[in-house]
Order: sequence, then structure tokens, then C-alpha cells
Amino acid sequence: MTDGYRIAPRRVSFDWRETPLHWIPDEPTATHVINVLHLLLPAGERWFVKVFKEALPLVRDEELLKDVKGFMGQEATHSVQHSYVLDHLAHQGLDTTAYTRHVEYLFDVLLGERPPFGLRVSDRAWLRFRLSVVAATEQFTAVLGDWVLRADALDRAEPDPVMLDLLRWHGAEEVEHRSVAFDMFQHCGGEEPARYARRLLGMAITAPVLTYMWAAGASYLIRHDPRLAGRLRYTLRHHKRAIEKGLLPTWRELGAAIPRYLRRSYHPSQEGSLSRAVDYLAVSPAARGAGGGPKGAAAS
Ligand SMILES: [Fe+2]
Ligand SMILES: [Fe+2]
Repeated sequence: MTDGYRIAPRRVSFDWRETPLHWIPDEPTATHVINVLHLLLPAGERWFVKVFKEALPLVRDEELLKDVKGFMGQEATHSVQHSYVLDHLAHQGLDTTAYTRHVEYLFDVLLGERPPFGLRVSDRAWLRFRLSVVAATEQFTAVLGDWVLRADALDRAEPDPVMLDLLRWHGAEEVEHRSVAFDMFQHCGGEEPARYARRLLGMAITAPVLTYMWAAGASYLIRHDPRLAGRLRYTLRHHKRAIEKGLLPTWRELGAAIPRYLRRSYHPSQEGSLSRAVDYLAVSPAARGAGGGPKGAAAS
């Protein structure tokens, strides 16, 4: 739990009118690998909120309930703000609907209120499974959030400041609420050792699906980018080059998040730096414009 630190959404807004399609100049691969966030998050984070809404009646702890409501408010805001970026991409001639249709199918149908394909799973077990997927996904959003706050190479690449602020505001809130989905899963996930097995299953499914969707998303964006006009393809070589420049997180940083999460004694309060997140939110143009956001106890 967050020990008195209050999690609450900030009423941010971003003006996309001046943001170029290649918002990291001359780095289309890094630009589009990061742009996959905008493809996945509108439907994904809307789905987090839906799953948590279903699970709210199971919460028997006042502190957790407060955290969960703050989490839901933050994720709903993230979802909406990333969907505006999709509108902006469409405005620049990059239509993403053929891809986001699959993302919506995944979250609304395959991971919807009832199990797909008439699978015989109880309502409780299905809810616990989906909570384990949210918690596993939040492991990666916390790692990515901390990475984007530390990625000095991104500043040196002179990216569009509005996009960088969106990523860092979102990343900082991901670090801020990094423990909530895990705490929610632990609270609603049933008795040990079955709960631990459910946590493993959540990660075993989430990590490969996320990897696949990310690669497919980056490939889609690069293929459909009107400025590239088919001259570039998404390749591991280009991706590696962007990592070497510090414009994308390393495989090791991302991969190491998995065994950490699988440790029995794991808790996400060990992820990233809350003080770095809070420091950024104090200077973020969008978060400052929103009135500074929630007040809380000292960050660590
Ligand atoms: Fe988020
Ligand atoms: Fe999150």
C-alpha cells in the first residue's frame, strides 16, 4: 500500500498542433516503437478501469480502496490523452484504426466480462485472472515509466517537448501508482499457494502477448507512415541501434523485470524511484497546468 501517499488524477491537457509526425527528429524507428504506447493504451487502460470496477465490491480495506480509485482516475485520464495522439496521427495521414481494431478485440472480447469461446471458468476465477494480467502489465509500465524519466538521451535528441511531457507525466504517474494493481491482485487473488500460481500465469501470458503486440504495432506504424512511404521496415537492427543511442530501453532492463516479478517475496514498491517521479510532476508543463496534482507524504 502507498503509506499515506495519495494517488489522484491530474487534469492535464496537451496541444498537439505543433507536434511533427517524427517527434524524435530523424529517428523514425525509436519514434514509432514508443508510439506503440498510443496504440495499446487507449483500449488497454480503459480495460484496466473496467476490470477494477468489477472487482471493487471485493475490496475490504479502506486504504486500498482509496488507492484503487486514484489508480482508476489516473488510468482513465491516460487512456483519453493517448487517444488524442491517435487522432493527431490520423490528422497527419497515419490511420491506425486497422491495428487498434485488434487491440480493442483483445481487451473487449478476449478479455471481456465473460471468458471467450464459452470457456468454463467461474466469474471469480476469470476476474482473478484479469487482475493478474493488469498487475503483470503494471510491472512493465512502472519499468518503462522509470526509464523514460531517466532517459537523458531522449532530451539530447531534441524531441517534440509536448510528446516528451506526455510520456514523462504518464511515466511518473505509473511509478506513483506502481503498487496498486499488485496490491489489488494480492487482496482479491485468493489463498496461497494458488494465488502465487495465478500471479505466475498472469505474467506468463502478459509478457509474450505484449512483446508480440509491440513488435506488430511498431511494424504497422512504420509501414503506414506517409513520410516514410514504404522506404523503411521495422527491423531488430534498427531497434538495436536506437537502444545503443539510449532512445529505447535495453532488452536487459525490460527482461529483468520478469524474474523480479516472479520472486515470491516481490513487491513493486521496489520499482523505480518515486522521488524522481514526484520531482518530474512538479515541473511537468501539463501537470503544472493541471494545478500541481495531489499532495502526499514524503516520497522515497
Ligand atoms: Fe497509465
Ligand atoms: Fe498504470
